[in-house]
Amino acid sequence: MSNRFRVAVVGATGAVGETMLSILAERRFPASEVIALASERSAGSRVDFGNDTLAVQDLAGFDPAGVDFALFSAGGDISREYAPKFAAAGAIVIDNSSAFRMEPDVPLVVAEVNPEALARIPRGIVANPNCSTMQMVVALKPIHDAAGITRINVATYQSVSGAGRSALEELGRQSAALLRFEDPNPSRFPVQIAYNLIPQIDAFADNGYTKEELKLVFETRKILGDDSIQVNPTAVRVPVFYGHSEAVHLETRDKITAAEARALLAKAPGVVVVDDPAKGEWPTPVTHASGNDPVYVGRIREDISHPRGLSLWIVADNIRKGAALNAVQIAELLATGGR
Ligand code: A2P
Repeated sequence: MSNRFRVAVVGATGAVGETMLSILAERRFPASEVIALASERSAGSRVDFGNDTLAVQDLAGFDPAGVDFALFSAGGDISREYAPKFAAAGAIVIDNSSAFRMEPDVPLVVAEVNPEALARIPRGIVANPNCSTMQMVVALKPIHDAAGITRINVATYQSVSGAGRSALEELGRQSAALLRFEDPNPSRFPVQIAYNLIPQIDAFADNGYTKEELKLVFETRKILGDDSIQVNPTAVRVPVFYGHSEAVHLETRDKITAAEARALLAKAPGVVVVDDPAKGEWPTPVTHASGNDPVYVGRIREDISHPRGLSLWIVADNIRKGAALNAVQIAELLATGGR
């Protein structure tokens, strides 16, 4: 590869795709060309790329020859169909869908946590983790390295942007409608999401957990390289536009104090600690995460119900660190050989 790269963004009109484009521009990714791809419906429309705009091309009619990096965020079906074609044409695909995450010959990578997994990309595909897993492992990696996490209980509070542009529009429309005493007319979500909470994200598996919850189990183990970690998740959709939050309760092999955890997190890459109970300081999706890159951690405390328990509150922008930013960081690691 040359030191300037042809980059394709698949799903460029979507909530994640448009942020991939803005982050590529913002971080001055060394691109010789950036190509915006979406469905036939959007072909010919324009999307923002820094101060410029790009014409959207139809993915189905696009020839991937000569593409160096293809960042996919158009859903699992599109990834399953097109990612292998881009890889066969010589591109490295960085895929934001869940299509390939658990395949043993596809690295599942969080830039700050396991960049060494990029050393082998046998199928030309790298998977970007689920947004909730992503922010959780950025914060848990230093604690796992220091004290050995044996069990994680996590409840998520996931914003609607994780369900795409139509979900953002639905929350906005319903919020306005309800203030006018009109019917919220749910369509993207099964029930009203404005002023409500929905304790189901993705379909149910046979064991009573949802697929979104099982992603937190299996992706966490794969990224941290430790199949012994037990994870018990509950994933909840909340009426927040951008930014996922997580109440995380850990059990560790060795005792770790809140002060030790705070000190480790304060120097962890990609983490910002916002944790001052005396001043009432803790991170929220709106005041900290939305539009920003770091994973914010607060409410760090020793669990009064367990001798080796630690509780944390973890917040990040699910579209940025939870999706688009990490995909661009992976491309940067590959482009610079810095893995
Ligand atoms: P389009 O806008 O043309 O439908 P989101 O998750 O925010 O809803 O975004 C989904 C992204 O995936 C959009 O960019 C969407 O493009 C794209 N997409 C959906 N279906 C296809 C398809 N059949 N071919 C290419 N891109 C698709």
